[in-house]
Amino acid sequence: MWPLLKKLPPSIVALLLQSLAVVLMLLSINVMGWHDVPFLVAVLCGLLAAMLSFFAGLAMWWLIIQLLFAPALVLMLAIKLPPSLFLGAYLVLLLVYWSTFRTQVPLYLSSNKVWHALEHLLPVAKGDSSFTFIDLGSGLGGVLTHLANVRSDGRYIGVEAAPLPVFLSWLRIKLGNYRNCRVQWGSLWDCDLSQYDVVFAYLSPVPMEKLWHKARTEMRSGTIFISSTFTVLDQAHHETVQVDDLHHSTLFIWHM
Ligand SMILES: C[S@@+](CC[C@H](N)C(=O)[O-])C[C@H]1O[C@@H](n2cnc3c(N)ncnc32)[C@H](O)[C@@H]1O
Repeated sequence: MWPLLKKLPPSIVALLLQSLAVVLMLLSINVMGWHDVPFLVAVLCGLLAAMLSFFAGLAMWWLIIQLLFAPALVLMLAIKLPPSLFLGAYLVLLLVYWSTFRTQVPLYLSSNKVWHALEHLLPVAKGDSSFTFIDLGSGLGGVLTHLANVRSDGRYIGVEAAPLPVFLSWLRIKLGNYRNCRVQWGSLWDCDLSQYDVVFAYLSPVPMEKLWHKARTEMRSGTIFISSTFTVLDQAHHETVQVDDLHHSTLFIWHM
């Protein structure tokens, strides 16, 4: 990526390049006499933005967004939907994805098969003693409530940054009457991992190195760190569990 752009989050780079493409296309409208063909201008704008993003080194999915953004905008404006619909959709997306533009960890959910695989990684049940489990970025609380159901000898905590998933998890926990389970709104970087016997994360490649350092510094020996799908470069895991789900998820396990 161009050195100056390298320092910025990909979302900001994409926005800058899309804006540059729009400005260049607006300038060329007069020169080329393209006043009556907004869709053509939008398609060219998309192509230009995608090309600039390619040379800037953005990931493939950003190129697709860049390509489709202006044509989709022109089409949507042509349909003349009420503006409140866009505002509503924007607010829902904002509440679900919140700081994804910064964290680069969007919401997507572990499969039921991952939930089941996790059951076998929990500490062995021992009479009255309990254990603590945290899901870092707990999404809709599916992992927590499933485990709370099948292993009631554990205490399950979720931390989630996005408000709507936190609310839905809270509702799920209340309605399911899970007494050994709670979710808190906040950042996983503010959690003290020394309090947990099992730390689970299903995030993205971006925070893994930093998270590994946090886990190494804070987790007690004898506890386990599990990352679904994303491993830590140069940090050999001790075990893996292959899950036979749609994404062929892998659970990477470190015994601390
Ligand atoms: C891939 S989803 C995983 C959801 C859930 N753990 C599961 O396995 O189904 C990642 C979640 O982490 C949340 N997240 C990302 N960065 C976070 C942070 N710094 N602190 C707390 N939550 C975060 C996102 O909002 C998203 O809901």
